[in-house]
Amino acid sequence: MQKMDFQYFKKSADYVKNIIQEEPDIGIILGSGLKDFASRINNKITIDYKDIPNFLVSTVESHEGKLIFGEIKGKKVICMSGRFHHYEGYPFPMLTIPIRLFKLIGVKKTIITNAAGAVNTSYNVGDIMIIKDHLKLTGASPLMGDNIPEFGPRFFDTTDMYTKELRKIALECAKESSLSFHEGVYMYFTGPQFETPAEIRAARILGADAVGMSTVTEALTAAHCSMPLLGLSVMTNMAAGVLDRKLTDEEVGETAARISKPFGDYVENVISRL
Ligand code: HPA
Repeated sequence: MQKMDFQYFKKSADYVKNIIQEEPDIGIILGSGLKDFASRINNKITIDYKDIPNFLVSTVESHEGKLIFGEIKGKKVICMSGRFHHYEGYPFPMLTIPIRLFKLIGVKKTIITNAAGAVNTSYNVGDIMIIKDHLKLTGASPLMGDNIPEFGPRFFDTTDMYTKELRKIALECAKESSLSFHEGVYMYFTGPQFETPAEIRAARILGADAVGMSTVTEALTAAHCSMPLLGLSVMTNMAAGVLDRKLTDEEVGETAARISKPFGDYVENVISRL
């Protein structure tokens, strides 16, 4: 494999910069089933992931594989419709690629959305959780391997990874939404299997409110390169064992589709205030 040094990341960024010709204000990564949001972008320039040098290609059906630049509510945004996960076989360090691309093309703030299972039994399917912190007990980190000082230091702080100021704006906008909101802790599991009921009971004891298979790799990369971050989880299902039935990907997709309109309106409102 080619060495992932600073030049490796710069090559993707130069390609994208050359096409979009402007610096985006806000980067957005869309979670599974939430790709409809991209249709809200005006004056679009679309780039296929496969055309970007040193980028990745999504292998999950519900994830598209396009980088879309344009405008929402007067803000310049760049949106990843289709994201990458460790369960697809990508080694952790490769999962730094999207956020580092955002950083190098000038993105100032990033919003990450995901579909998640609700661990907190006071949450309901269709609720939104503004991520305030995360738990990742999986040993590996996307920042393992040689440090690239152009992005950040070897050892870096994660105290305010889900940026307080952005969470405050997200909470204010929540008051204007028809959806129900919480602030909570997201716990990362690698997947692709959904968690076992015993894992979910353990997650609850440890302080998790929701579980999912994405987001933390991007959040850690954002913390490393000092990128302000907002994480939003859609509770697409109650986590394993909460209800007496099996989990399916269809249920995840159905909930995401059902709340797509109010959730999109909410994210647009957040963008307008960032
Ligand atoms: N677990 C992990 N990831 C998920 C879930 C879940 O219950 N729902 C949506 N993504």
